[in-house]
Amino acid sequence: MRRAFIEQIADFEGEEVRLLGWLFNRRSKGKIHFLIVRDGTGFLQATVFKGNVDEATFQQADHLPQESALEVIGRVKADPRAPGGYELEVTELKVISTPSEAYPITKKAHGIDFLLDRRHLWLRHRRPWAAMRIRDELERATHDFFAERRFLRFDAPILTPSAVEGTTELFEVALFDQEKAYLSQSGQLYAEAGALAYGRVYTFGPTFRAERSKTRRHLLEFWMVEPEAAFMTHDENVQLQEEYVRYLVARVLENRARELELLGRDPEKLEPAAEGNYPRLTYREAIELLRKIAPEEGIEPLPYGEDFGAPHEAAISRRFDRPVFIERYPAAIKAFYMQPDPEDPELVLNDDLLAPEGYGEIIGGSERIWETELLRRRIRERGLPEEVYDWYLDLRRFGSVPHAGFGLGLERTVAWIAGLAHVREAVPFPRTYTRLRP
Ligand code: 4AD
Ligand code: MG
Repeated sequence: MRRAFIEQIADFEGEEVRLLGWLFNRRSKGKIHFLIVRDGTGFLQATVFKGNVDEATFQQADHLPQESALEVIGRVKADPRAPGGYELEVTELKVISTPSEAYPITKKAHGIDFLLDRRHLWLRHRRPWAAMRIRDELERATHDFFAERRFLRFDAPILTPSAVEGTTELFEVALFDQEKAYLSQSGQLYAEAGALAYGRVYTFGPTFRAERSKTRRHLLEFWMVEPEAAFMTHDENVQLQEEYVRYLVARVLENRARELELLGRDPEKLEPAAEGNYPRLTYREAIELLRKIAPEEGIEPLPYGEDFGAPHEAAISRRFDRPVFIERYPAAIKAFYMQPDPEDPELVLNDDLLAPEGYGEIIGGSERIWETELLRRRIRERGLPEEVYDWYLDLRRFGSVPHAGFGLGLERTVAWIAGLAHVREAVPFPRTYTRLRP
């Protein structure tokens, strides 16, 4: 007898199979017990008819508590009335374990903190299940996309001696002999070394920001995808970002339709993002747009030269049905390593990609300064400790070329695509300003 996984249950129609999983839910109607079994790949109705199983099993099925671990043997039947279109007609039921106390998550509405405190259990339920499956699809799609384009996967270190994105958001770690290290904010500087060694690389790993913000877009620990390519220009960088995001959305539409449905996410809302043609605004144009829409959006317009806050990004991104690029920001409000715009050296060749429907920034990217003296000057101007960037200056001293890259925040991208209210739903165990546990 074959072991079946619920995800592929249709392939087993008519066959008697073995299913290993857990009891998620149960109801009875006269001489039938309906058991909803989950096996990690999905949820399936297992129907226990009186007479199909021995009497003791039939009685037991009426009393099994939620989260009993089960081995279920039965025949797979197509049934349009069953959720998902298939059910298992049970012939044998073996209980592997039963809970030692009542399962704490019940059908009644629980508060957010109650569920976050029990995240290790809540992950078993349908919404987190769907979100984690979409996250998994995006991770896989990422590897496929960059492998198809001959980017080498290149892992950056987590313990680092320096800041990438600004010194105020660093988590310090005590090393031996009083030396201090920081948890990586971004793998970018190392990805640049990778690009100059191997042409095109991407990092994909955890990154850390000590931000005391309680918004729905901030985590202390999040995963970032950071491609970096030698000889890539700003325009090519923007184009690569669009191709990548289109690819991500298309893959979820193709392979995770059930999960989107379960989350109540309308796939039509995602179709423009899968099509492409993302609009491009300059920073200046975005400031101008904000001035026009501020009254309607109930926000203050932003003076030229200041960086967008979450409400500004949300207001802009609500105006478009697909992601929108904002490019060429004033150098003063951006990171030290960004290449000046040759048409206006007060600006840099950078872009942010804002997801629609108010989700805001999911990508930040730029061309990098590739001239040693200018880079050294920027490091000094920002008051950064020059000695720890000396290796980074080597990348300019030896074989320097124009190069560019970007970083996509995985949780924000999952949140947007899956239509989640908060980035903490997009990661198995969120780390936020107010939460370290479980
Ligand atoms: O815009 P950021 O800070 O860019 C960088 O770190 C560059 N070094 C990337 C590069 O060019 N290689 O961060 C990139 C993305 C953001 O657009 C956002 O999606 C995500 O990382 N991000 C966060 N996600 C969750 N919580 C936070 N606190 C985040 N901070 C940034
Ligand atoms: Mg950014």
